[in-house]
Amino acid sequence: MPGSFKVPFQDLPRQTAQLRPELDAAIDRVLRHGQFIHGPECAEFEAAFAAATGSRHAVGLGSGTDALQFICRGLGIGPGDEVITVANSFIASAEAVSHAGAKPVLVDCRLEDYLIDPAAIAAAITPRTKAVMPVHLYGQPANIAAIAPLCAQHGLHLIEDAAQAHGAKLADGRYCGTLGVAAGFSFYPGKNLGAFGDGGAVTTQDDALAAKLRLLRNWGSVVKYQHEIPGYNSRLDTLQAAILHVKLGHLARWNDQRQHVAGWYRENLRDCAGVVLPREMPWCGRHVYHLFVVRFPRHDRDVVAQKLLERGVQTVVHYPIPIHRQKAYAGLGYAAGAFPCAEEAARSILSLPIFPEMTRDQCDFTCEVVRAALA
Ligand SMILES: Cc1ncc(COP(=O)(O)O)c(C=O)c1O
Repeated sequence: MPGSFKVPFQDLPRQTAQLRPELDAAIDRVLRHGQFIHGPECAEFEAAFAAATGSRHAVGLGSGTDALQFICRGLGIGPGDEVITVANSFIASAEAVSHAGAKPVLVDCRLEDYLIDPAAIAAAITPRTKAVMPVHLYGQPANIAAIAPLCAQHGLHLIEDAAQAHGAKLADGRYCGTLGVAAGFSFYPGKNLGAFGDGGAVTTQDDALAAKLRLLRNWGSVVKYQHEIPGYNSRLDTLQAAILHVKLGHLARWNDQRQHVAGWYRENLRDCAGVVLPREMPWCGRHVYHLFVVRFPRHDRDVVAQKLLERGVQTVVHYPIPIHRQKAYAGLGYAAGAFPCAEEAARSILSLPIFPEMTRDQCDFTCEVVRAALA
């Protein structure tokens, strides 16, 4: 409950309260027409989200995990194939690949930016590799200028895990969501663009892939009770689409506010010994700060987090166990120490509160408590 913290990690009730009149009107419209699946709001939101990311198509789906899985399936990636992704992501990046029947091949991140290491990708390519799935982790674009040429050289699909990167851009102005063959977005409630439940979308420029995704999400069917391929039930429902369309209208402003908060943190903690602040890399045109992740190389991160909690500051670790050390993927056979940067990050990172409605006072208080915890 955000109310029980002096500085909550995020404050969705506050955001919802601010939008209440707009949301009520959008929800009321759906309740009145009653088309809860594939209602008109779905196509309206898809068109708006495609336009907002500069994409030809956006296909609404049940979750970000399904978005990434369906991209793999839609591209024909399956048993016997390998997809390279990064060890320090949320488990869904790997699950999307294994649910499609392929093998997730994990590589290390760089400690400098927590993003997938292009040199590690190059070293992991085998004749079975079909795709590379960089993650725009924490809201910063991956190093696409280094990754795209590798994909082109080896004939690999570039699939973006853009679950944390709504509105993020490269320095050349291109949006995350348009940098490869397709991108998977998540609308999990806490994301920069979040629904009131689960939801996701794929953006792509590829007409055939978009058509395949529309089949996959709807039991392989376009015409009711005629099924072209075996598919799934994974649609973005009408209420979520209506809610997301309202919230999309605020996304650019919210991302600006997240950048302001990040700026306050930087200003305040610049000279604080013992804390490593996140870096905006030269290729990044717009970091949307889904998370503000700092690192404490010389302190016990869990002790710092506990001290923050005692003073009412809520923090989270994204993520405490890298994918290759998860029981679920023990079968991949990676040993402890396989990915030193991902493992060091898991030991020492901490996500400080960041959300568009966060006040300067909340940020300053958090910084004061961080300083005290490190003293
Ligand atoms: C990097 C990353 N990939 C994939 C996902 C999966 O998205 P979802 O929770 O909508 O299935 C998430 C978020 O949960 C994520 O953070």
